[in-house]
Amino acid sequence: MSDVDLDVHRSTEDVIEALREDVREGLSAARKWLPSKWFYDARGSELFERITELPEYYPTRSEREVLRREAPEIAAVTGARTLVELGSGSSEKTRLLLDALGAHGTLEEFVPLDVSEAALAEAADAIARDYPALTVRGVVGDFTEHLGLLPGERPRIVAFLGGTIGNFLPTDRAKFLRSVRDVLAEGEWLLLGTDLVKDAGTLVRAYDDAQGVTAEFNRNVLRVLNERLGADFDPAAFEHVSHWDAENEWIEMRLRARAGTRVHIPGAGMEVTFAAGEYVRTEISAKFRPEGVRAELADAGLAVERWWTDAKGLFGVSLSRAVA
Ligand code: SAH
Ligand code: TRP
Repeated sequence: MSDVDLDVHRSTEDVIEALREDVREGLSAARKWLPSKWFYDARGSELFERITELPEYYPTRSEREVLRREAPEIAAVTGARTLVELGSGSSEKTRLLLDALGAHGTLEEFVPLDVSEAALAEAADAIARDYPALTVRGVVGDFTEHLGLLPGERPRIVAFLGGTIGNFLPTDRAKFLRSVRDVLAEGEWLLLGTDLVKDAGTLVRAYDDAQGVTAEFNRNVLRVLNERLGADFDPAAFEHVSHWDAENEWIEMRLRARAGTRVHIPGAGMEVTFAAGEYVRTEISAKFRPEGVRAELADAGLAVERWWTDAKGLFGVSLSRAVA
């Protein structure tokens, strides 16, 4: 039972239609790909939570370290009355912000937004229970489409954590940052988590753990296609690959067909053939340099006022202000 009412921006039929279009486009391309938001059904969100606890997956721990240290400063600088969180997932780390903004005495409302209704419902309920004075308004939606609808008293701070900004291709990333800037009034805030460029071994291992949780997470997108579009993928026939693209400075996640195979996807009205070794790109996770983050934010009309990293310098968090 959900205690918090969620604003749902899409019917199940709309979601399936969007999936169908993405699958038709991505799997008919010369180099096959799928958009990463389709990982996150209930099982996918659970697998992602397990990833955040893996020894190899340092981003969550590093970002939490920064938030624990800097949350009081974030509250003092912004004086936010509303905290909006995009791609909020479990909102576990976000509690550090809620605590600090609550202690500062300004926070009234929390607005988590995620495509995963299961993850959002659980997180929104848990937070409403633990922060009874807070208005919690969960939004089930796509942060590439539904930003215009964000509620909340000003000033607001929009948090986009976990390095999820790295999951956009560069041109989409610029568009997204601009769209965030456009929903903010001058003087409102963006708190952005960005994973940083580092040695290839550390990066590759963060996306290919010894226990195989990330591999299961990656293959989950095939299960989503089986369930929602009646496809007949055998997930075990695809090998998980974590590849560091040094030129683009991103990790690329792939699913590689172990042998030649043909897959039927009735819900998308298509049949797809894979040659042995052919792969689907399922995700990129771009890694950043501090000067690059600053420049991209500036291009979008966001001025970086604070920049922090964890003690090991693995992960960056920026606090920027919307400017004219
Ligand atoms: N913020 C959390 C979760 C990061 S994982 C953390 O830092 O640990 C990425 C999250 O973004 C998932 O919860 C996923 O469901 C959500 N997500 C992915 N694509 C999305 C989209 N297009 N619109 C809204 N949410 C999306
Ligand atoms: N936002 C996360 C990241 O880029 C998503 C993620 C973590 C992910 N591990 C993954 C996506 C493995 C696909 C496969 O770090």
